[in-house]
Amino acid sequence: MLDSIAEAVARGVADASVRAIVLIGAGRTFVAGADINVFKALKTREQALERSGAMHARLRQIEDSPKPVVAAIHGTAFGGGLELSMACHFRIATADAQVGQPEVHLGIIPGAGGTQRLPRLCGVPLALTMCTDGKPIAAAAAHAAGIVDAVVQQADRLLDEAVAFARARATAHTIRRTRELTDTLADTRAGIAACDERYAALAAAARGNRAPLIAVDAIRGACLLTFDAGSILERELAADRVLSRESRALVHLFFAEREAARVPGVPKDTPTRPIARAAVIGAGTMGGGIAMTYANAGIPVLLKDVDAAALERGLATIRRNYESSVAKGKMSPDSRDHALACITPTTTFDQFNDVDIVVEAVFEDMALKKATFAQLGRATKAECVLASNTSCLDIDAFSRASGRNATVVGHHFFSPANVMKLLEIVRGKDTSAETIATSLKLARQLGKVGVVVGNCPGFVANRMLAYYMREAYLLLEEGGSVRQIDHAMTEFGMPVGPFAMQDIAGIDVGARIRQHLKATGKTRAEGPQSELPDLLYEMERYGQKTGAGWYRYEPGSRTPIPDPMVETLASEAARRRSIKRRVVTDEDVVTRVTTAVANEGARILEEGFASRAGDIDVIYCYGFGYPRHLGGPMFHADTVGLPRVLANLQEYRTRFGDYWRPAPLIERLVAEGRGFYGDLR
Ligand code: NAI
Repeated sequence: MLDSIAEAVARGVADASVRAIVLIGAGRTFVAGADINVFKALKTREQALERSGAMHARLRQIEDSPKPVVAAIHGTAFGGGLELSMACHFRIATADAQVGQPEVHLGIIPGAGGTQRLPRLCGVPLALTMCTDGKPIAAAAAHAAGIVDAVVQQADRLLDEAVAFARARATAHTIRRTRELTDTLADTRAGIAACDERYAALAAAARGNRAPLIAVDAIRGACLLTFDAGSILERELAADRVLSRESRALVHLFFAEREAARVPGVPKDTPTRPIARAAVIGAGTMGGGIAMTYANAGIPVLLKDVDAAALERGLATIRRNYESSVAKGKMSPDSRDHALACITPTTTFDQFNDVDIVVEAVFEDMALKKATFAQLGRATKAECVLASNTSCLDIDAFSRASGRNATVVGHHFFSPANVMKLLEIVRGKDTSAETIATSLKLARQLGKVGVVVGNCPGFVANRMLAYYMREAYLLLEEGGSVRQIDHAMTEFGMPVGPFAMQDIAGIDVGARIRQHLKATGKTRAEGPQSELPDLLYEMERYGQKTGAGWYRYEPGSRTPIPDPMVETLASEAARRRSIKRRVVTDEDVVTRVTTAVANEGARILEEGFASRAGDIDVIYCYGFGYPRHLGGPMFHADTVGLPRVLANLQEYRTRFGDYWRPAPLIERLVAEGRGFYGDLR
């Protein structure tokens, strides 16, 4: 594409009848960025250098044109698109256009001159922000910053305006080559200071995500070096990035997320039902957050609870959440009012025959949920989607109770539901392809990433989490401390450690699920069950909400303080189970936890409850904040090497017992010399 553009410009330059050149995109956008498959195909540093070298040369050719070249931008000029436009002499954009350098989201940095031309156009501070947070900016802001030279209010006039603009520049013989701009970089010392400051701030929060730091290094090069030398530096840094593990992992997730929308048995042309009106049952922690999610997407939603008092409690929380978003400047008072107006509280089923979907979020109690679904079967129209937010109960029981089959599905949100991006869509025995397709489309409408999973206890996310937590508890009994285990996992890249996470989610939630399972003779994870979480539950240490859980909390504070009482409980539990306590290292913690999770992921795969390893990676990253730069638990297992994972499993099996036996899928893949992702490594 770039070759043909450069050729077209060369033809314009050679043609005496051409006075100026306008580059404009057909379709819905100017250039949305490079084809990410190209990065995947680059295997060596030489290939990566060659590719960015070719791009630099083509862009330079365009910039060298003696006739004015104007980029006419509509839609987006992202990544390589913005870099192309910056090699033009002028940029003119529609009011709704956006420009950005989002490369860091894929673990890379701009590789076609972006780190050298952008600071020359808009100054170092804004270039630093754009290249390190990757967020796009709107045309008006780009205009104010000097990235765009003019904004066209009427989108359909873009070409005409761009031609007029180009004609005027040709007449006046003005050409402005971005690489020759010096004003914005004149104060080198200020530029370097801005780079250092940004670097320090990013380094503190980097957690293995190095791309933003490298982008700063490249921009520092723009302050210190000539354009040509800076461009060489950028090429070198960009080539290293493309080949980095982090970038491979992020590119993997990029594709995995898109692939998750393709579900076996649900062809692309499966019809979907429009969701114009919704209802949520239960105005508690989850129901309130789910209602907000719908309201934020502009879908009117009924919110039902048992009585006025329960409703008012739920609504008060919703209002408080919106107030805090407004106070933090994340939401305008207008959008808050609009969202609140979308939520209609009720204690009856009166208007339920009008809704297209109901999401049930009452207590996790089978009898209560069945009764609720029976009521829904009577109160809603036949084609209404009946979704349950259950954490682990059998979806098929709800279709039996409601008398509906095809439209019953699990919509498992994650807490806080209005924030977390994952929606596990649980497919029951009779759930129709249409209901699945509708759920996937709805997920996008709600700003969520929908992943379809099978109907097994805990589905995919919580089923794996049970193994993650099992190991955290056992490591505590073996001699680790609450703080150390949490610290090891945050160093690994998790946003919070397992114990701090449970203190936020509520120790009572898991305890009730365990009680329910116990009554049916099941456990959440195979292997020894630590009694520690149940002991805390009995002591009413539910976590942050009661001021104590795995940690203790000062009144009004959310800062976890280690509590020696918990360590005492752990050593007593160890004594009762005859566990000899030892020094547990951070490496032990990470290896044990990640090995347990990968093994259970492999079982989920071979049992068919997830369609592919990528779905599991997407689920763990969006549901529990698994470090994206490691690509998810399955991708990470491949990075570690499945033979290594298998060896760990065998060692643990010998040391701890048969519950560590390797998933047959892992044994088979190792025997075949493959990983979960074949040749992706
Ligand atoms: P919660 O206890 O905060 O809220 C439950 C609400 O349902 C209460 O307001 C209650 O008054 C209401 N309710 C009870 N019976 C009702 C009925 N017959 N009609 C209408 N409303 C009724 O519970 P939470 O945490 O919101 O959980 C709800 C569901 O979401 C459960 O199935 C749970 O397993 C699931 N879930 C919970 C997550 C969490 O992190 N808390 C995460 C994902 C799913």
